[in-house]
Amino acid sequence: MTKITIVAFDGTRYELDAADGSTVMENALRNSVPGIDGECGGACACATCHVYVDDEWVEKVGGPEAMEEDMLDFASDVRPSSRLSCQIKVSPALEGLVVHAPERQG
Ligand code: FES
Repeated sequence: MTKITIVAFDGTRYELDAADGSTVMENALRNSVPGIDGECGGACACATCHVYVDDEWVEKVGGPEAMEEDMLDFASDVRPSSRLSCQIKVSPALEGLVVHAPERQG
Protein backbone atom coordinates (compact mmCIF):
# COMPACT_ATOMS: atom_id res chain seq x y z
CA MET A 1 0.00 0.00 0.00
CA THR A 2 1.12 3.50 -0.79
CA LYS A 3 -0.30 6.66 0.74
CA ILE A 4 -1.61 9.15 -1.79
CA THR A 5 -3.61 12.33 -1.32
CA ILE A 6 -6.19 13.67 -3.72
CA VAL A 7 -7.25 17.24 -2.99
CA ALA A 8 -10.77 18.00 -4.18
CA PHE A 9 -11.55 21.37 -5.74
CA ASP A 10 -13.14 22.59 -2.47
CA GLY A 11 -9.90 21.84 -0.62
CA THR A 12 -11.03 18.60 1.03
CA ARG A 13 -8.06 16.23 1.28
CA TYR A 14 -8.67 12.56 0.61
CA GLU A 15 -5.80 10.65 2.15
CA LEU A 16 -5.93 7.17 0.73
CA ASP A 17 -4.10 3.88 1.14
CA ALA A 18 -3.70 2.85 -2.47
CA ALA A 19 -2.81 -0.63 -3.63
CA ASP A 20 0.43 -0.73 -5.58
CA GLY A 21 -0.34 -1.39 -9.22
CA SER A 22 -3.72 0.34 -9.03
CA THR A 23 -4.21 3.71 -10.67
CA VAL A 24 -4.89 7.06 -9.04
CA MET A 25 -8.23 7.17 -10.92
CA GLU A 26 -9.34 3.81 -9.50
CA ASN A 27 -8.60 5.00 -5.99
CA ALA A 28 -10.46 8.26 -6.58
CA LEU A 29 -13.58 6.41 -7.76
CA ARG A 30 -13.43 3.84 -4.97
CA ASN A 31 -13.40 6.67 -2.44
CA SER A 32 -15.94 8.88 -4.24
CA VAL A 33 -13.57 11.79 -4.63
CA PRO A 34 -15.60 14.53 -6.33
CA GLY A 35 -14.29 15.90 -9.63
CA ILE A 36 -12.86 12.67 -11.02
CA ASP A 37 -15.25 10.68 -13.20
CA GLY A 38 -13.18 8.06 -15.02
CA GLU A 39 -15.95 7.32 -17.50
CA CYS A 40 -13.96 4.99 -19.77
CA GLY A 41 -12.78 2.84 -16.89
CA GLY A 42 -9.14 3.67 -17.40
CA ALA A 43 -8.70 3.00 -21.11
CA CYS A 44 -7.26 6.46 -21.76
CA ALA A 45 -10.26 7.21 -23.93
CA CYS A 46 -12.34 9.84 -22.15
CA ALA A 47 -10.17 12.41 -20.33
CA THR A 48 -12.67 12.60 -17.44
CA CYS A 49 -10.01 11.59 -14.93
CA HIS A 50 -7.94 14.75 -15.46
CA VAL A 51 -5.92 15.89 -12.44
CA TYR A 52 -3.16 18.35 -11.68
CA VAL A 53 -0.09 16.77 -10.16
CA ASP A 54 1.14 18.80 -7.21
CA ASP A 55 4.18 20.96 -8.08
CA GLU A 56 6.36 18.94 -5.71
CA TRP A 57 5.55 15.76 -7.61
CA VAL A 58 5.54 16.79 -11.25
CA GLU A 59 9.08 15.64 -11.89
CA LYS A 60 8.75 12.33 -10.08
CA VAL A 61 5.45 11.40 -11.73
CA GLY A 62 6.73 12.44 -15.15
CA GLY A 63 4.86 13.60 -18.21
CA PRO A 64 2.18 11.90 -20.28
CA GLU A 65 2.92 9.41 -23.06
CA ALA A 66 1.78 10.22 -26.60
CA MET A 67 -1.67 8.60 -26.35
CA GLU A 68 -2.41 10.34 -23.05
CA GLU A 69 -1.19 13.64 -24.42
CA ASP A 70 -3.64 13.33 -27.32
CA MET A 71 -6.51 12.60 -24.89
CA LEU A 72 -5.56 15.57 -22.73
CA ASP A 73 -6.59 17.79 -25.64
CA PHE A 74 -10.17 16.93 -24.64
CA ALA A 75 -9.75 18.05 -21.04
CA SER A 76 -10.45 21.64 -20.05
CA ASP A 77 -7.98 24.05 -18.46
CA VAL A 78 -4.97 21.87 -19.22
CA ARG A 79 -1.77 23.00 -17.51
CA PRO A 80 1.84 21.77 -17.55
CA SER A 81 1.05 19.63 -14.48
CA SER A 82 -2.00 17.98 -16.08
CA ARG A 83 -2.19 14.20 -16.23
CA LEU A 84 -4.91 11.63 -16.72
CA SER A 85 -5.11 9.90 -13.37
CA CYS A 86 -5.90 6.51 -14.95
CA GLN A 87 -2.41 6.62 -16.40
CA ILE A 88 -0.66 7.20 -13.07
CA LYS A 89 0.15 3.83 -11.52
CA VAL A 90 0.62 3.74 -7.78
CA SER A 91 3.96 2.37 -6.61
CA PRO A 92 6.11 2.76 -3.50
CA ALA A 93 8.09 5.42 -5.40
CA LEU A 94 4.99 7.61 -5.19
CA GLU A 95 4.57 7.38 -1.38
CA GLY A 96 3.05 10.70 -0.32
CA LEU A 97 1.90 11.67 -3.82
CA VAL A 98 -0.43 14.65 -3.96
CA VAL A 99 -2.71 15.42 -6.91
CA HIS A 100 -5.48 17.99 -7.26
CA ALA A 101 -8.88 17.38 -8.85
CA PRO A 102 -10.17 20.08 -11.16
CA GLU A 103 -13.48 21.85 -10.53
CA ARG A 104 -15.11 19.67 -13.16
CA GLN A 105 -14.24 17.37 -16.04
CA GLY A 106 -14.72 18.09 -19.73
S1 FES B 1 -10.58 7.12 -17.12
FE1 FES B 1 -10.90 7.64 -19.19
S2 FES B 1 -9.06 8.58 -19.77
FE2 FES B 1 -8.74 8.09 -17.69
